[in-house]
Amino acid sequence: MNAPTPSVNQVSQTDTALLQRKVSFDFSASPLHWIPNDPYTSHFISVIHTILPAGEFFFCRLYNKALPYIDDEKLKQDVKGFIKQEAMHAKAHTGGISNFLENQEMEVGSFIKQVEWLFDSVLHDKPFGRKVPKQLERDWLVLRLGLIAAVEHFTCVLGKYALENTQWDHEGADPTILDILRWHASEEIEHRSVAFDVYQHLGGNYPMRYLQMLIAFPVVIGLWVKGSSHLMAQDSSIASKRPKAFGVYFWREWQRKSKSGHLPSLLWLARQASRYFSPSYNPAIEASTEQAQAYLAQSPAALRAAAINAA
Ligand SMILES: [Fe+2]
Ligand SMILES: [Fe+2]
Repeated sequence: MNAPTPSVNQVSQTDTALLQRKVSFDFSASPLHWIPNDPYTSHFISVIHTILPAGEFFFCRLYNKALPYIDDEKLKQDVKGFIKQEAMHAKAHTGGISNFLENQEMEVGSFIKQVEWLFDSVLHDKPFGRKVPKQLERDWLVLRLGLIAAVEHFTCVLGKYALENTQWDHEGADPTILDILRWHASEEIEHRSVAFDVYQHLGGNYPMRYLQMLIAFPVVIGLWVKGSSHLMAQDSSIASKRPKAFGVYFWREWQRKSKSGHLPSLLWLARQASRYFSPSYNPAIEASTEQAQAYLAQSPAALRAAAINAA
């Protein structure tokens, strides 16, 4: 909460230049249960590799479309940096699918197709293949940018959670998986204001923002639950407990893991979402850029990327 309080007239609240760090990760030594003896939490978090690439590539496409509508030079630069960072996140997590989950013989294609349907059909420029009338094209763009701003609130608060979670380290979690999570978390914190600033700059209003979070919250939770239960069902160490999305085990275990500090609870997530409903919500004060940059200064992947860049 150390971020500077920005002036209300300032279009961009981003307090750092958004750099693309060309990271790479070697998952060859990372076990499926990357938190030892905790398959539930391992899968619950590993599912993000399957959800994020389609979403983040969609973000890149949409913000490229938004660029011509932005007439503030600083915000334009923020958006360009945001696009580069999200593209690198998507690429890194795609590696998480092919070099980690699929190497561990997890079937992820059927779930990824459902995620892609959301972004490539429902949220497409032509939703469900239907052309949007010319006079509504800008509104459709701003509506989707608002949905992304709501999702980016989650990536910011979850990023803060990932940086501050000490239980994963205590349990001896795999360092490569921790690094991809925390590198991504840190960049989400760095660019936490961009989507919100763009939404405000393009005339996005408060009632729509409220509605967008009402939509985004169940969609985020729904994808998370569906995808992680899909991974768990393939794992013989817990499949017999029937970890179905609507099953007792899944929800009881989530509560248990959140109590032991392994996962954020559903209630915690709902509380985070509720702050977005406030008319005075401001992403700049949701997290600290200094905290993010402190991690990036010691992230093995970010340091390797910086060394390659400097060579
Ligand atoms: Fe991201
Ligand atoms: Fe992001």
